[in-house]
Amino acid sequence: MESATPVIVAIDGPSGTGKSSTSKAVAAQLGLSYLDTGAQYRAITWWMVNNGIDIDDPAAIAAAAGKPEIVSGTDPQAPTITVDGVDVAGPIRTQEVTSKVSAVSAVPEVRARITELQRSIAASAEHGIVVEGRDIGTTVLPDADLKIFLTASAEARAARRSGELKGADVHSTREALIKRDAADSSRKTSPLAKADDAVEVDTTELTLAQVIECVVTLVEEKRAGK
Ligand code: DC
Repeated sequence: MESATPVIVAIDGPSGTGKSSTSKAVAAQLGLSYLDTGAQYRAITWWMVNNGIDIDDPAAIAAAAGKPEIVSGTDPQAPTITVDGVDVAGPIRTQEVTSKVSAVSAVPEVRARITELQRSIAASAEHGIVVEGRDIGTTVLPDADLKIFLTASAEARAARRSGELKGADVHSTREALIKRDAADSSRKTSPLAKADDAVEVDTTELTLAQVIECVVTLVEEKRAGK
């Protein structure tokens, strides 16, 4: 039986563009693994906070960057994340971690550590993988078979995020989101950026189902060699 060669799909973009929902659904539909790289940066941030590392001290963060053991489960139906064996899927989504993750993820030693982990996970995915993040197409997997860059208006992104956060105030969600995107886009080491060869998909006026269909079609076209 002919088996399809592993396909590597990089999906980048700011928060609230539907990256996670799209990436998980595309991976599940195509039988690929799935990696949420934001969860890894959140997990290392959670560890720093829990271990009393001063988030305003990049040297202290750099010195501790090698300590936590972060393990990601890559089944798109049930992704998992543990730090030193502790399930942190819930704790990494708190307001505290969300407000500190940009500072931690801007530290080059943190990025080097997490990037290496991401590359080894992608390389060992038997059937291929969908990797979502901010710098996947530009830095982590520059040779990905397909690169997607999702965008949406700030209004649409804030509305989606406050829906996810069960009715959080749209205005303050929008402000926090814009602040985090600005920090992620302006950092020196591998900022949030669209790769030159990425396909940009503006999701503002699209339903989730439409975005999934669009990306699945692009992957299938790639596999068919179009
Ligand atoms: O996708 P998310 O909101 O869970 O990501 C959390 C943070 O992690 C985001 O604000 C920036 C950082 N991040 C990053 O720097 N590089 C990535 N590839 C993914 C996330």
